[in-house]
Amino acid sequence: MTTHSIRFAALALVAVPLLFVAASAAQEEAQALFVDTYKCTMCHSVESAGVAAKSEKTFSGDLGGFATDDPEALARYLRKEEPRDGEEHKKTYSGTDEDLQLILDWLSSLEPVAEG
Ligand code: HEC
Repeated sequence: MTTHSIRFAALALVAVPLLFVAASAAQEEAQALFVDTYKCTMCHSVESAGVAAKSEKTFSGDLGGFATDDPEALARYLRKEEPRDGEEHKKTYSGTDEDLQLILDWLSSLEPVAEG
């Protein structure tokens, strides 16, 4: 090995695990926002991440695997600025766009709940 390739290998050994740590930290942060900060679990579960909804009465669907190609329109819907398919969201999201983006990235990285 040349000095250069040894350096590269050493860099890869450090950088690759760091990427995994960064990715899972973002996932943990998103889950904490969803569960603790914004209490989305009042109405939604995310079964594939082991997140249950608080109540069957208010249960409004599992969000595992949820993805949208129009995050801005979704944000307006969750902020109750604009209906979606003629319906208003039940709860007004009043957090930051950054937090919402973290949550959406996390949801779309997960598996949808198994049908049946
Ligand atoms: C008071 C109950 C309630 C709370 C709390 C709530 N939601 Fe919802 N949400 C609903 C209902 C009802 C729907 C419409 C039913 C549906 O489309 O699944 C919905 C729909 C959605 C959708 C669209 C789902 C789809 O399949 O089209 C997303 C995304 C969503 N909510 C995200 C969130 C997030 C993120 C939070 C927390 C910041 C949250 N919701 C908090 C009741 C709630």
